[in-house]
Amino acid sequence: MYKHYLLGCVVILASVINVLGLECYVCENQEDNNEKCVKTIKNCEYNQDVCLTEIKWGSTPYWSQGAKKQYYVSKRCSNKTECATTRQRYMSLCTHIWYQDWVCSDCCLGDRCNYYIISGSDAVKPVFILLSGFFLLKTLIL
Ligand SMILES: *[C@@H]1O[C@H](CO)[C@@H](O)[C@H](O)[C@H]1NC(C)=O
Repeated sequence: MYKHYLLGCVVILASVINVLGLECYVCENQEDNNEKCVKTIKNCEYNQDVCLTEIKWGSTPYWSQGAKKQYYVSKRCSNKTECATTRQRYMSLCTHIWYQDWVCSDCCLGDRCNYYIISGSDAVKPVFILLSGFFLLKTLIL
């Protein structure tokens, strides 16, 4: 029957996709979410079911006071267990406070789902710009 044929195709297609495994963007400690971080795609291992993104905000080479700060974006294949552990570990460090060093992690399901970096860091940008503007203004006036 035509209907069964169609269903068969879907099942075969689904298992082929499953065998090929999850695809995640991978990169390590990149300054920005471009180039490597949005161009390097990895086929994950069969037991890796999520894509993990890690964002650090801090200074080079060590997280030292007063030095210029920048993002460090890392992406990799992971699994739900590791993802939960990582997020737990970073929970208290994930402050998004621009004048402090912080680190956050997030995971997502689905092929190449970690293209964009976690929503939290996008949300921090307007605040960052606003605060920078405020401090610049204050410096100019005083
Ligand atoms: C998840 O990944 C970690 C680190 O690679 C590994 O040690 C652990 O066994 C994995 N857990 C599962 C359920 O696959």
